[in-house]
Amino acid sequence: MTERPTLPPGVRHLPSYLPQEAQETLLEAIRAVVRQAPLYVPAMPRTGKEMSVRMTNCGALGWVTDQERGYRYQPMHPVTREPWPPIPEALLRLWQEVADYPHPPQACLVNFYTADAKMGQHQDRDEREFAAPVVSVSLGDDCLFRVGGTRRTDKTVSLRLCSGDVLVLGGESRLAFHGVDRIYPGTSMLLKSDGRINLTLRRVTAP
Ligand code: SIN
Ligand code: FE2
Repeated sequence: MTERPTLPPGVRHLPSYLPQEAQETLLEAIRAVVRQAPLYVPAMPRTGKEMSVRMTNCGALGWVTDQERGYRYQPMHPVTREPWPPIPEALLRLWQEVADYPHPPQACLVNFYTADAKMGQHQDRDEREFAAPVVSVSLGDDCLFRVGGTRRTDKTVSLRLCSGDVLVLGGESRLAFHGVDRIYPGTSMLLKSDGRINLTLRRVTAP
């Protein structure tokens, strides 16, 4: 798993994109976001099954899910009903550097994984603008990330994402299935305890 797998076209993995100090600064900004907009327990549409990942957002819009209303974007936190805090400057700059898209992101989903959390294979398709990529940043423990094609049955490749890595799903892979099979606890010292944070930047509406 340490050799670089061939990624599907449109998937870009930028290992160690953020140096240690930038990771620490970004983590502080995310801690401030979480103080204003606490992590909540998302639930699957219809079944109401709780996800193992804890979530919050920053940006004009946030991605949320619950049993009754399912997957959607909305301008406020589902529990506090407050507007989401703004996207930290460092993330807006990162988007400008890597997105190859002329408008800013509107949503930043904050996913927090404990040591045993995972995320099933899914497509990011609740946006209306698919010309913009999905840009994701990893902080904390490594994870095993898996990405395939635009059909659930397409073959997949696994790669390890580490703290400071950036992953871009764009072009032909904008709607690729992807997910997180496992966390490797104890592989990073960035967070105070085991776990992983993933930040996902997205453009929701067409400009
Ligand atoms: C996601 O697809 O929302 C999260 C991906 C990740 O945690 O790397
Ligand atoms: Fe996703």
